Amino acid sequence: MSLNPGTVNEVPYKNKHVLGIVGSPRRGGNTETLVDTILNSAAEEGAISEKIILNELDIAPCQACDRCQRTGSCIHDDDLKKLLPLMYESEVWVLGTPIYWWGPTAQFKAFIDRWYGVDQRKFQGKQIIIAIPMGGGNGHYARHIIGMIEDICNYLGMTLVDTVLAPGMIDRSSARESSHVMDSARAAGMRIMHAY
Ligand SMILES: Cc1cc2nc3c(=O)[nH]c(=O)nc-3n(C[C@H](O)[C@H](O)[C@H](O)COP(=O)(O)O)c2cc1C
Repeated sequence: MSLNPGTVNEVPYKNKHVLGIVGSPRRGGNTETLVDTILNSAAEEGAISEKIILNELDIAPCQACDRCQRTGSCIHDDDLKKLLPLMYESEVWVLGTPIYWWGPTAQFKAFIDRWYGVDQRKFQGKQIIIAIPMGGGNGHYARHIIGMIEDICNYLGMTLVDTVLAPGMIDRSSARESSHVMDSARAAGMRIMHAY
């Protein structure tokens, strides 16, 4: 992972920049596998891809102090500052979170909450892919996360272009062992480079 904002700029800007954001704390687990597969598939089609692991960053929860609304800057001086340039420069974000209690992980939600204090105009036009593994056997478990992301996308002028759901992901290696799940993640990476 690189949090050096310069790295994206050094690459000629002719290809799509695709940023993977992993919301699971489990390295090498299902969420990271899905995000990696989408990124690799997009990269094979010419994307410039990068991945960050939220659990390895210091992103503090929003304190609702509203300083961002008054002054434009957040009270937290943490890793979101370094991540934002990467987000701004990427046309596509692949947002991955496992389901935890019918919702996203705490790491993922803390990250999203902090969007309250950013320059949201720079989010407009982003293309979003969400990748959601879950232990339950039915994609319906993901409905709250999907609804949340749909509403956020509508509110911020972003487009949810693809949703990769992976039910029945009980073990860390479940995604990698499911050819169906891997195929659907690869297809999403391919589509982002050709269909949108
Ligand atoms: C704290 C916790 C809560 C969970 N809650 C749910 C849930 O509500 N519904 C579900 O289908 N799976 C639930 N799961 C299972 C995970 O979503 C599933 O194992 C997923 O594949 C984990 O992804 P990872 O390998 O990237 O960590 C939960 C797992 C944990 C650790």
